[in-house]
Amino acid sequence: MAGGPAPGRSLAGRRVLLGVTGGIAAYKAASLARLLSAAGADVRVVMTPAASRFVGPDTFAALTRNPVHQDVFEATDRVLHVRLAREADAAVVAPATANVLAKLALGLADDLLTSILLEARCPLVLAPAMHTGMWTHPSTQANVAALAARGAIVVGPGEGPLAAGDEGVGRMAEPEEILRAVEAALGSPGAGDLAGVRVLVTAGPTHEPIDAVRFIGNRSSGKMGFTVAAEAARRGASVTLVSGPVPLPDPQGVAVVRVETAAEMFEAVTARAEASDLVVMAAAVADFRPGEVHPGKIKKGDGPPQLALEPTPDILSGLGAAKGSGQVLVGFAAETEDLEAEARRKLKAKNLDLIVANEVGRPGTGFGADTNRAAIVGRGEEGTPLREWTKVELAAAILDRAAGLLAAARAAAGSTV
Ligand SMILES: Cc1cc2nc3c(=O)[nH]c(=O)nc-3n(C[C@H](O)[C@H](O)[C@H](O)COP(=O)(O)O)c2cc1C
Repeated sequence: MAGGPAPGRSLAGRRVLLGVTGGIAAYKAASLARLLSAAGADVRVVMTPAASRFVGPDTFAALTRNPVHQDVFEATDRVLHVRLAREADAAVVAPATANVLAKLALGLADDLLTSILLEARCPLVLAPAMHTGMWTHPSTQANVAALAARGAIVVGPGEGPLAAGDEGVGRMAEPEEILRAVEAALGSPGAGDLAGVRVLVTAGPTHEPIDAVRFIGNRSSGKMGFTVAAEAARRGASVTLVSGPVPLPDPQGVAVVRVETAAEMFEAVTARAEASDLVVMAAAVADFRPGEVHPGKIKKGDGPPQLALEPTPDILSGLGAAKGSGQVLVGFAAETEDLEAEARRKLKAKNLDLIVANEVGRPGTGFGADTNRAAIVGRGEEGTPLREWTKVELAAAILDRAAGLLAAARAAAGSTV
């Protein structure tokens, strides 16, 4: 945006201390080091002895172009832990083991990382990662609560595959999410840039009932819309999320309205759209529904039912037609072919300001996946080329663009008064 740094250089000139501890997710700290460096930060990596059992210091040295420190007794001109603590603008520990969380909560300083963090007074971001039992243990929970109460910013953990083939809560937050937390902790541009903006987001599929127990649905997981809502809230917006049936928890700081059918989503969205500055329609709303819903359960013995389908209300077109000046409307086009042409057609036909052309139907992208192959297309311009994004990256890019459009729309509205 005008006056801000070039996109992607949000941490230019900032010194970030990255503490890596001995968990299986240590390999993902390499991606975080790369992201922090790419955002312009001067990254200093400190590893615990256990961390170097999982990933080598040379990886971090190469990614950050700085020496990696591991030893509190390393000979330097000044006492190393004091120097590194004072130089850091922010510290992030990713992954943060149960052990390091316990040590930080107690104020132990028996290695270089914990000695630095006891001396440091800069913002501290922690990304816990461990098996579910370790995470849910009352000791770990009490330690995390104590650290959070002292101002530490705790990101994650999320739910998903863990080490040793297990699954559950304890998976380290994705590096992009941790980067956003560091940016927010440093008050970097991007953080807080949507303060005062009212954002309405839709997410997930809709379920269109056939009878008392069956429905027509689709494979949308809701992750994209939930990520946009969480990111908008993090950036200071006041966010309402209207979601179809998905098992995702409410994002922090977001008002969530849960609906089932396209008709309910239509109601919930149209009731709130006028009072919104930015509407992001990421839901995969059913285009058709059964014309009649059988009141009980259709019996198998009655043979296959004939389902006559009827169209559902087109929420996006309705919003486009009613769009007020100064309002920004973002749609998604989930397509299997002819992506950009189809996206441009919808952009125009539905009076949108931005459309995210989203490739679906290929394994690993789109519905249900953590990545999207997508292009963001605006009016009267070349779209960003079709490429792979994590959902966090894509959400941030959509909101960057929308924030620019909102600022321009406000300026235009102001100049006509
Ligand atoms: C294969 C393996 C994986 C481990 N993964 C984790 C983990 O994800 N989270 C955790 O808290 N501890 C994990 N541990 C245990 C820690 O490595 C151990 O508690 C260690 O003392 C942590 O040291 P640090 O906190 O100083 O890095 C793992 C251990 C092994 C051998």
